[in-house]
Amino acid sequence: MSAPLFDAESLRMGEPARPDVAAPVVAEVPDPSSRPHREIPTPAPLSGHGPATVLAMCNQKGGVGKTTSTINLGAALAEYGRKVLLVDFDPQGALSVGLGVQPHELDTTIYNLIMERRVTLDDVVLRTGVEGLDLLPSNIDLSAAEVQLVSEVGREQTLGRVLAPALPHYDFVLVDCQPSLGLLTVNALACAHGVLIPLECEYFSLRGVALLMDTIEKVQDRLNPDLEITGILATMYDPRTLHTREVMARVVEAFGDLVFDTVINRTVRFPETTVAGEPITKWASRSQGAEAYRALAREVIAR
Ligand SMILES: Nc1ncnc2c1ncn2[C@@H]1O[C@H](COP(=O)(O)OP(=O)(O)OP(=O)(O)O)[C@@H](O)[C@H]1O
Ligand SMILES: [Mg+2]
Repeated sequence: MSAPLFDAESLRMGEPARPDVAAPVVAEVPDPSSRPHREIPTPAPLSGHGPATVLAMCNQKGGVGKTTSTINLGAALAEYGRKVLLVDFDPQGALSVGLGVQPHELDTTIYNLIMERRVTLDDVVLRTGVEGLDLLPSNIDLSAAEVQLVSEVGREQTLGRVLAPALPHYDFVLVDCQPSLGLLTVNALACAHGVLIPLECEYFSLRGVALLMDTIEKVQDRLNPDLEITGILATMYDPRTLHTREVMARVVEAFGDLVFDTVINRTVRFPETTVAGEPITKWASRSQGAEAYRALAREVIAR
């Protein structure tokens, strides 16, 4: 029996105070994003590429920054000379839109790649405006795959099978999952080396984490014993509010070193980049948000 992935007790918040336990003095909650940061070296240049580390960007809660983190972490890794393939594995196609692609105009997407044997990776992959950053786009067609895959042999390994030929050519493959723990997400977890969990610093975010951990443990047991949690990324962090600081403190308490030192602050610059169809590292290269994703990229390379 492996050790539990986290201390579930620490995630409890906002529950009625027990009379025998003194209420916490909330004003004393420090800003956890200012905890001592680990020493992270600047990534060394690479002389060649591959084999890729596959990371599933996963959280079944919607709107927590999965897609934003996939784009911007990917672009920051590419700035460090890594070859990166982004996989849009959400029928909403938000990752594709965020990189300036109009998903409804595409004839071939990841859907065709996973459902049609004659379609190859080269038929689907797109270059982006960032050097070293490629994209497997998706659109609403992918929603049919979830149903169609159910009757396939090896249905959980479909994504892994089609990505395998790409792995020698890339350093990182980032899979942007949809906000559910359905078959598409299980496919991503089944072929990933690591899971990166973006977590919005808000009370309701914590409640879903136990379920996500449960799914990850099941995938580890049944499909992918090597799957690891690469890290938990606090997003939409607002250091001015006590609530965000409290949530962050709970997350650090429960997950310890799994929590990235880097936190992503809440800023309107991220919605702006979606409209621009560019990563923040290009759209506002010197912004705090761009620097934060560069710091995250350094942590990911070091892990
Ligand atoms: N750090 C941030 N500060 C402010 N807004 C943000 C931040 N990160 C993301 N957003 C915005 O929040 C919205 C949701 O973000 P995003 O699409 O990345 O989340 P998601 O987890 O991929 O959502 P879904 O579950 O729907 O796929 C978007 O409009 C995005 O621009
Ligand atoms: Mg998304």
